[in-house]
Amino acid sequence: MKPEFTSFFNNAHIQKKLTELEKRAKATTLSARFTADKDRFNRYSIDLEGLLFDFSKNHIDDDILSTLVAGASDAGLTSAITDMFEGKKINNTEDRAVLHTALRAPSESRPPHLNATIENAKQNMNAFSDAIRNKTWHGATGKPLTQIVNIGIGGSDLGPAMAVEALSHYTHKDFEFHFVSNIDPTHIMEALAKCCPETTLLIVSSKSFSTLETLSNAKVAKDWLINTLGLDADVGKHFIGISSNIDAVTEFGIPEHNILPMWDWVGGRYSLWSAIGLSLEIAIGKQGFNDFLRGGNCIDKHFREAPFENNIPVLMALISLWNSNYMDADSNAVVCYEQYLHRFVSYLQQMDMESNGKSVQRNGEPCLWQTAIPLWGGTGSDTQHSYHQLFHQGSRMVPLDFIVGTNSLNPIGDQQAFLFANCLAQSKALMTGQDKNSIKQDLLNNGVSEEAAEQLSSHKEIPGNRPSNMFVYDKLTPFALGQLVALYEHKVFVLSVLWNINAFDQWGVELGKQLSGSIKSALLHGDSDLDTDASTLGLIARYKKQTN
Ligand code: F6P
Repeated sequence: MKPEFTSFFNNAHIQKKLTELEKRAKATTLSARFTADKDRFNRYSIDLEGLLFDFSKNHIDDDILSTLVAGASDAGLTSAITDMFEGKKINNTEDRAVLHTALRAPSESRPPHLNATIENAKQNMNAFSDAIRNKTWHGATGKPLTQIVNIGIGGSDLGPAMAVEALSHYTHKDFEFHFVSNIDPTHIMEALAKCCPETTLLIVSSKSFSTLETLSNAKVAKDWLINTLGLDADVGKHFIGISSNIDAVTEFGIPEHNILPMWDWVGGRYSLWSAIGLSLEIAIGKQGFNDFLRGGNCIDKHFREAPFENNIPVLMALISLWNSNYMDADSNAVVCYEQYLHRFVSYLQQMDMESNGKSVQRNGEPCLWQTAIPLWGGTGSDTQHSYHQLFHQGSRMVPLDFIVGTNSLNPIGDQQAFLFANCLAQSKALMTGQDKNSIKQDLLNNGVSEEAAEQLSSHKEIPGNRPSNMFVYDKLTPFALGQLVALYEHKVFVLSVLWNINAFDQWGVELGKQLSGSIKSALLHGDSDLDTDASTLGLIARYKKQTN
């Protein structure tokens, strides 16, 4: 019988084959692969309901892909996918199911026991967003609420902040959105300074309703309302709470009828599809939000049904694993050529690194292989003028995902063509590079001396052979954004299965939270007997000296 927990790396036959293939892959180049196979783009790209995924500029061939796919099957990916969608408790360290996919599924394909719960929550969310958008939801002084402040952190902030920004083209222009996450008081104070208490809605988003940053900022906001509207004002009208901890929300002072639910089967970093997306629904309306859900569900269907060799999230994960575990990449970058997506990478960072930044297997044994590598990136073409130098000539290979639309939502002149050209040029330059001899020849032709040409050409040489994926959508719609988010969610999940880690817990963040409590007490109350290291004590002393 197969053991319950296995990993991609436990199959000696597949590992041996991949080690051989790795040697072969390192002995050839991406350009040579394209020269040898004129059909490479067609064979290694997939078009799925308006979204094109081109993975041809990777160090892969049919042998490599079929071996990776065999490894995925051997690691139990098929049953892992079924287990997730069917609600098995795959988050084993917290004894929880992982069912964010149910939130974007049509009722007939959800786990039946969740139908009523999800429908009910959706109806309430729709009613709240309609009331705000129709301006029938009034604050304590009878005015409609048009300034929306989401207070949350991590998954209760990054998703809605990213999506409201990404879809701001579709946003009801009467409304203003602010996202406050940091415990740095500047964040909440700056946001409130832009708002009028009479017309401000505070959405306090926290699955646990115990997160220090969120509760502190919510308290500041509540005091701000009371101080300006008066002690007798019904400030509850200015609050919506989104949480699975109803008691804590009501204790904070938010009336029960202003609470939307969360559940333990939706992880914080996967919660944008739930009521945590309320600010997005207020921004783009319930039809827009439904389109976003449909985009996610389109990917879910594909993920469940497509054979692994044609399955976009599976391929994204396999290529990522190939690049990091075999081809020596030690970070990944995502560059979005769409200004509206400028918060997308921050959002992906939590999804990817909080999920897969682990080094023990599901059964508690150490991983004998590397897991997630750092993810970074930003918005092209800005990034070209910032850190692409490292992509092109740095000593480390960074595989890239480029994300770009063919059509701008704000077309003007030929700027979108220029943007698209920039994106394609980067992926091509990464692949082909520029060899030293041709650079030197150009310099000589331009009258540069032999000695100077020799030296300068070494600096100008671009090694190339650096892999990238390309995602191309038409226009950035709610549906397209839903597709993109769900693709990365499933990529992260597939990688966790291959590495045999639990993508849905985050125990690593707890220690820092605990320590900050005693350190804060030492800072404020002068506990000099704190049993800690000299550096921490020295820094506490410095704080006290500067603040007394
Ligand atoms: O500290 C990490 C974390 O638990 C994330 O996983 C989560 O998204 C974030 O904090 C916020 O948690 P909550 O929604 O419970 O306030």
